[in-house]
Amino acid sequence: MDPRIYNVDINIIACVHSFNCLSGGEEGEEWGIGGSGEMVWHIKADLTRFKTLTTAPRSVVCVGRVTWDGIKDRVDRKGDKRFWVVLTRTPSAYSNEEDVEYISSFNDVYDISRREGVGVVWVIGGRKVWKECFSLITPDKVFLTKIMRSDPTLEIHSKTDCYATFMKDILDRSYDLHFVEDMYEGAFYYKNLVYYSS
Ligand SMILES: NC(=O)c1ccc[n+]([C@@H]2O[C@H](COP(=O)([O-])OP(=O)(O)OC[C@H]3O[C@@H](n4cnc5c(N)ncnc54)[C@H](OP(=O)(O)O)[C@@H]3O)[C@@H](O)[C@H]2O)c1
Repeated sequence: MDPRIYNVDINIIACVHSFNCLSGGEEGEEWGIGGSGEMVWHIKADLTRFKTLTTAPRSVVCVGRVTWDGIKDRVDRKGDKRFWVVLTRTPSAYSNEEDVEYISSFNDVYDISRREGVGVVWVIGGRKVWKECFSLITPDKVFLTKIMRSDPTLEIHSKTDCYATFMKDILDRSYDLHFVEDMYEGAFYYKNLVYYSS
């Protein structure tokens, strides 16, 4: 049973960044999400956009424990008041903080969101967390950023597959493309795509 049926007041949005690991065409290439915790691109406008989207209105941000380990010392947790929910099989091994809670079931995000008075949950990965989320529900929206190189000499490594073999099928089957924006910054050409569940 889709838990969203009982949780119509909470909007779930999946946020996925996928980069083209090979130079060349936009489709039919290999799309990665990163595999060892490192950021393989740095696009300032994209970081600003993510922060704006997740802070106004204030949101719950659901993240896998592996991804959280990689970003927790880098995110601005003082000013923006986002509430971070970290999915792990062993929440008792961690100490909750004022703005961070460890959970073992994705369904707990609904109760936490209500308790925090928040109507939007962003599911920001990594791959295991998206898989868990999409196995339980069809998120209301997917914000997909597809990153390509405008500088072909730029090396991009680390291609944990995601978009190509997992997300693309889901989007084709269950979503309509609602918004497209072409963006450039430095060595990158990228597209902001927003899908609504059909
Ligand atoms: N391109 C992007 O948009 C993007 C976004 C986020 C992350 N990433 C990248 O993705 C990589 C990490 O992805 P990942 O798939 O390895 O890890 P992840 O999804 O970030 O975290 C996996 C962990 O989440 C917990 N977990 C997952 N499913 C669960 C479930 N059903 N119940 C309870 N706990 C569960 C487990 O934690 P425990 O081991 O503690 O039990 C598991 O080890 C990193 O390289 C990161 O940089 C990319």
